[in-house]
Amino acid sequence: MGEGVLSPGAGSSGAAPPGGGGAGAAPPAGPADLGPGFPWVQGGLTCRGLSLEGLARRFGTPLYVYDAQGIADRVHRFQEAFQGVDLLLAYSVKANGNLAVLNRIGLAGAGADIVSAGELERALRAGIPASRMVFAGVGKTVREMERALEVGIHAFHVESEEELNVLEGVARRRGERAPVGIRVNPDVESPTPHHYTATGHATSKFGIPVTRALELYRTAPERPHLWFRGIDVHIGSQIVAVEPYLAALDTVLEMTDRIRADGVSLEYLDLGGGFGVGYRGEGGLPLDRLAGAVTERLRERGLRLILEPGRSIVGEAGVLLTRVLYRKESGGKRFVITDAGMTELLRPSHYGGWHRVVPVLHDPAAPEAVVDVVGPVCESGDFLALDRPLAHPGAGDLLAVGTAGAYGFSMASNYNARCRPAEVLVESGRALLIRRREEVEDLLRGEVIPPAPSPESGDHTP
Ligand SMILES: Cc1ncc(COP(=O)(O)O)c(C=O)c1O
Repeated sequence: MGEGVLSPGAGSSGAAPPGGGGAGAAPPAGPADLGPGFPWVQGGLTCRGLSLEGLARRFGTPLYVYDAQGIADRVHRFQEAFQGVDLLLAYSVKANGNLAVLNRIGLAGAGADIVSAGELERALRAGIPASRMVFAGVGKTVREMERALEVGIHAFHVESEEELNVLEGVARRRGERAPVGIRVNPDVESPTPHHYTATGHATSKFGIPVTRALELYRTAPERPHLWFRGIDVHIGSQIVAVEPYLAALDTVLEMTDRIRADGVSLEYLDLGGGFGVGYRGEGGLPLDRLAGAVTERLRERGLRLILEPGRSIVGEAGVLLTRVLYRKESGGKRFVITDAGMTELLRPSHYGGWHRVVPVLHDPAAPEAVVDVVGPVCESGDFLALDRPLAHPGAGDLLAVGTAGAYGFSMASNYNARCRPAEVLVESGRALLIRRREEVEDLLRGEVIPPAPSPESGDHTP
């Protein structure tokens, strides 16, 4: 076992957490649970036998830590729940596009839902076959279409009539048929925690309204360079209710029947992603209930099912580790200032996303206080948690931000010229560095200072 390894009842070879019981003693309860991949062992948070404090010391902070087993288990959970249908699980790369993470998801049998040429190349580089990829997004460029055709993706999910025409032109010039599914806007209200993550209502920029989509499918016989292969819908993200999915499904199934009756032989239905997880420790979307209802409706029609989960594969399998830099009080508020903020985890400030924040080493004697956990970025909106009761951490203490594996690193930025954090994958008892911490040189690469204009030139033309 490497640095920072803890095994229940076996003592610690890394940082010794305070409050640890002797061998065989029941581990003291931690202040809050971060889920199955990150249990408390002897008063310290761990990941598959490795102490998170040990990982922070070895790799520095801020640090993303992912649980490989947890990721694979979640892929398998989908595969098992939907085993009654022919399933293509197209993991949504935007949730976490690290090459190693993608590679393991691909090895578990999944494909990819991509939204850019960058995500396409990432997924290819990670070993995911193009034939298992679907390409969504409202603004695909001609170059992106050409590249996706060249590598042979499973289908484009087309989001507007103009995009369909451009794709047709690209395929014609190449003498090919572009595989297409129209992304339908089913006009359903999806109960997402923030309106930014709802996409299924009529006024959203996503998808094509039902009536117009049906008209476009009817044009299939005159369009030899388009292969109308399937139909697609995605109603939003972090949805925990089954009903909105079934409402959307019923809409596209009815459409499928009509399209097939018109002689267009659709082979798949893509129900999108958005399956909610339990940020506060509650259960997420009841997958088995959804699977039962979907399987029943699809089987009789002989349709292949595509699902595009992102958050539900990686969200709960990742934590962000951050050290406390300072504490201060102002206007009756207590602030805990950490070395991670909105540049490392944007969800709290962008979507009002709620994440568990817990001290990694549990000190039962620590006094509890209500604090704002804020980052170092020069924005008042830079925070990880607001008005949070917490065993009051001091400078140097390590905090873990839970359920941070999705839309964490993938939304990280270099704002304030901050270097993005390192990422570590815990696998088979080992901690593997899967992305090194950025350095200032990484930030400056690609920038150019042009020669200053000479005073005589009178303009700024070199
Ligand atoms: C088209 C599409 N598919 C899948 C997803 C994945 O959503 P989630 O990570 O909530 O499963 C998204 C997220 O925005 C999306 O836009």
